[in-house]
Amino acid sequence: MTVSDTAVTIDPAVQQFLGEPRNMLIDGKWVEAASGKTFPVYNPATGQIMAQVAEGDQEDIHRAVSAARRAFDGGPWRKMIPSERGRLIHRLGDLIEAHREEFAQLESLDNGKPLTVARVADIPLAADLFHYMSGWATKIEGNTIPLSAGTYFAYTLREPIGVVGQIIPWNFPLLMAAWKLGPALAAGCTIVLKPAEQTPLSALRLGELISEAGFPDGVVNIVPGYGETAGAALAAHDGVDKVAFTGSTEVGKLIVQAAAGNLKKVSLELGGKSPNIVLSDMDLDVAIQGASFAIFFNHGQCCSAGSRLYVEKKAFDRVVAGVAEQAKKIKVGSGFEPSTQMGPLVSDEQLRRVTGYLESGISSGARPLSGGHRHGEQGYFVEPTVLVDVRQEMNVVQEEIFGPVVTAMPFTDLDEILPVANDTVYGLAAGIWTRDISKAHQLAAHVRAGTVWINCYNVFDAALPFGGYKQSGWGREMGHEVLEHYTEVKSVCIGL
Ligand code: NAI
Ligand code: MG
Repeated sequence: MTVSDTAVTIDPAVQQFLGEPRNMLIDGKWVEAASGKTFPVYNPATGQIMAQVAEGDQEDIHRAVSAARRAFDGGPWRKMIPSERGRLIHRLGDLIEAHREEFAQLESLDNGKPLTVARVADIPLAADLFHYMSGWATKIEGNTIPLSAGTYFAYTLREPIGVVGQIIPWNFPLLMAAWKLGPALAAGCTIVLKPAEQTPLSALRLGELISEAGFPDGVVNIVPGYGETAGAALAAHDGVDKVAFTGSTEVGKLIVQAAAGNLKKVSLELGGKSPNIVLSDMDLDVAIQGASFAIFFNHGQCCSAGSRLYVEKKAFDRVVAGVAEQAKKIKVGSGFEPSTQMGPLVSDEQLRRVTGYLESGISSGARPLSGGHRHGEQGYFVEPTVLVDVRQEMNVVQEEIFGPVVTAMPFTDLDEILPVANDTVYGLAAGIWTRDISKAHQLAAHVRAGTVWINCYNVFDAALPFGGYKQSGWGREMGHEVLEHYTEVKSVCIGL
């Protein structure tokens, strides 16, 4: 483990967790990969290996799906009363809170995000998600339906969809696990979770707490491994009733193809290229702060990042100068350094991807008002960047960069900005900054996006549904809407 260059004392539980190779959770037991292989986990602040994790593949996925199948089809989970299921989910939220510092440290080391951010965002939101979802376990109801067909009594039942495969990304590792596991457990499903290969650690620690909370064996199985092997095997497995995926739009399409074999249900939370629209009537200092937070939070590694900034012409110069000034002030460094405001990107691959976009954007005429390059020589750091002189058709304006890079363009009125705001294949989120209530609602109504933030950005809450229009995905996470994606409706009709 190489975390010696850190300024915060590492929690002894974290030391111990990183010190031994981590196995996978199948049927309530921690087991090695069938192949015996492990893969390395890197510290993105240094690029050095921090831990070894069992490398799941097809055989392990098969074992995990079989365990989940047994737990769903005949085990104690199906017989458990809803209130007890809710209590277990609530207890899991409590256990995360009890271990919050340990989780925050694991997350910061594994993903690179500032420890201060993991402490106030990732970990409390993950605990809250389980607490919120625990309440739904007792509230999943059907309807009684008056029929016109004759004298019948008819009702619907909402039943768990079955065995669910869940494939999650690395940008909020624990929180993404919570978003997926919470509703599936509330609905009564069993699960095989595959964390991202870049950041498997917090999900594996969560697996220990799942056992400690008292979930029966096989209800949650956690198989770390690579996407092309373990992930693909899970998406294709015939024993899986539904696959839920968060990640790139490119892989989302592969998931849909893999699911076609047994027509398993699919929900997808994919990429975004969200417009953030500032009108000149707004308090511009607030808009500048908001636009900076919209793109630079979590280093821009947010599917909802406000990566296309559109500012009404008369406020453009002031707002982009303000955002660039904010960008220059951001303290970039190791997530464990208390003064750090932005850590490294998650991996060497993401560093190359993001700097590749910077090079191609700048060579096609984009001008950086701040940043524009890699930061430093060691680790995967990128300078917070504001690009102006961009055109709508440029790659940096159309494609998800997933780094701390915002493009900024001026506009004159609502008629001009609406088609431009909607001019990408994505539709995940949008931001609007204005004091004009009429314009705010007109824009909100016309933007094709699953979430619209007005005078705020990146507000997430377990009760607020989140998901995408267009190629940003299928279905919704959180709120009660998510439960529809983990349940089947059964119509029961009785002749009287
Ligand atoms: P990815 O989509 O390849 O990875 C996400 C998850 O999918 C990981 O668990 C991975 O192991 C798995 N996966 C990869 N290939 C798979 C396959 N063939 N079958 C089943 N599972 C598979 O994303 P990656 O490569 O980490 O990042 C690339 C880009 O994706 C980023 O630059 C960003 O634009 C986007 N992305 C979007 C996220 C979001 O929250 N919507 C999260 C992560 C990445
Ligand atoms: Mg990939």
